[in-house]
Amino acid sequence: MCGIIAVVGKEPVASLIIDGLSRLEYRGYDSAGVVLCENELIRFRESNGTDSLSRLATDVILKDCKATLGIGHTRWATHGKPSIENAHPLFDCNNEFAIVHNGIIENHFELKEELLKRGHEFTSNTDSEVIAHLAEESVEAGKNLGEILSKVVSQLHGTYAIGLVGSKFPNELAVAKNISPLIIGVADDFIAVASDIPALLGKVSEFYLVFDGQCIDIKDQEINVVSANGEITDILRTEVNWDLNAAEKGGYETFMLKEIHEQPSAVADTLRGKKGQLSTLVFDEMRLSAQELRDIEKIFLVACGSSFHAAMVAKYAIEHWTRLQVEIDIASEFRYRDPILDSRTLVVGVSQSGETIDTLQAIKEAKRWKSTVVAISNVVDSSLSREADTVLYTRAGPEVGVAATKTYVSQITALEILALALAELRGTLYPSEVDKLFDELSSVPLLIDETLKSETTYREISREISYSKDFFFLGRHVGYPTALEAALKLKEISYLHAEGYAAGELKHGPIALVDDKVVAIGIATKNRLLDKVKSNLEEVKARGALIAVVASEEFTKYCFKVPVTHELFHPIIDIIPMQFLAYELAQINGNDVDRPRNLAKTVTVE
Ligand code: M6R
Repeated sequence: MCGIIAVVGKEPVASLIIDGLSRLEYRGYDSAGVVLCENELIRFRESNGTDSLSRLATDVILKDCKATLGIGHTRWATHGKPSIENAHPLFDCNNEFAIVHNGIIENHFELKEELLKRGHEFTSNTDSEVIAHLAEESVEAGKNLGEILSKVVSQLHGTYAIGLVGSKFPNELAVAKNISPLIIGVADDFIAVASDIPALLGKVSEFYLVFDGQCIDIKDQEINVVSANGEITDILRTEVNWDLNAAEKGGYETFMLKEIHEQPSAVADTLRGKKGQLSTLVFDEMRLSAQELRDIEKIFLVACGSSFHAAMVAKYAIEHWTRLQVEIDIASEFRYRDPILDSRTLVVGVSQSGETIDTLQAIKEAKRWKSTVVAISNVVDSSLSREADTVLYTRAGPEVGVAATKTYVSQITALEILALALAELRGTLYPSEVDKLFDELSSVPLLIDETLKSETTYREISREISYSKDFFFLGRHVGYPTALEAALKLKEISYLHAEGYAAGELKHGPIALVDDKVVAIGIATKNRLLDKVKSNLEEVKARGALIAVVASEEFTKYCFKVPVTHELFHPIIDIIPMQFLAYELAQINGNDVDRPRNLAKTVTVE
């Protein structure tokens, strides 16, 4: 997830671009960059984490450039580590075209290979740079910039919002969109295009929606749709009545709520580009051979908090599909218990931030024993990714709320991909079976969408059971990690007493706590042990607890209904109503859900 902005007008645009970028910074801040176009393209780039943009602003202001055309970018690294070289805008070979891009170009390997053969020279490790070089090749007499970009995007597979400027195209801007967001704002003396409304709020008088497949040329205060994919051949005016504070959160009242709603795209982006490539194990940073992975005899999954719960789900999937033995460890315990590690052991460190000290130390311990290390991280070039032999990135974009939501479901997704890849590599599943499972996993984003439509009902049920101060979450098989994650969410943001249990374990002690003040929530979706979960719920009901369920069939009054998917993919869906439960109860208690007390987003102390 990155933010782009492009402005063309009659007055200098530098400050508009910088200000817009500051409002897009929530989309990533690995680096920031601007190109201002006079007779040549003047580029400014900084890569210094949260300082990137303030440094960039100083550079741009000092230059006092009066250009009336420019593009800007704030980066959340997906391909290529955060660095000046990988910061956008990116140039072609002759510095005649500059591009900014948000999204993922899935066929960039193939395109780059071809471009290299034709003599192009690359200066970054990004997937995006191919766009600038393709623009260089697409120049033809009489073609405007929009037409050039249209030819470029016809060769791209993947997601994109692109801004293109050229030194030989004064006061002209071209933009294109596919899946990644893009909005146009029109003011009296300029037209601007940006990844999100906040970048332009209060500065333009009209907003227009750009549709997927559209490629647009903007010049002399005119907007021309050069090419469209499908029937929508024009842009569409839209009303925006947000205030700025709400707008930065995409119109949602908190970052957490926004991030809950971003889960369909977080999962879809994590899956993107992986289909058909499992047998060759296309990780994001590959420093391992397929043979090395075939030789693995045992797997350890190490993680903390929500990441640990995602890893617990993966244990069920990996063992089931690969028949490899999987152990799972809380990272802070792992290295102190003298685990049996060797060169035939695969250790998977799961961490959205990639900076959690305990997970990092666990990975270091594994390396000390020459084990193979895979990182699952949401942050490109995080300490964990650098330490690992190979990385599989979750593509959830930055998560601001302290409670993990979209990164949690993306981690499960990435781990399911790893499980399927290992099964295909080791021959424990036929390729056709892997394909079928992958297709079913690929339909999960749509099911999350469907689940999110029940938000109002989920929140109503949550209010009805909000009288209780004691919540038990009960699940079996992969419902067990969901029960643990649901309890963690509730504790973390609503400060209520919540416990997650393996439902079958309850009668070995905890059931003594059950009385009529307790609410017990069963994870009762499609699962080989569903009947047993139902019996366990009856046991607590008989002791006075109020029963609620996450289920696909309404067999009790308080039902958080969810759609059906494969048993091993259900945790991705089942946690969503529980996120709303935690959210609603936190709101009722007046808590700051984005910054709950006593917690930090990233834990870098032991
Ligand atoms: O960045 P990590 O995934 O390593 O973080 C691990 C935990 O600190 C994290 O999942 C924490 O439990 C979340 N705040 C839970 O919502």
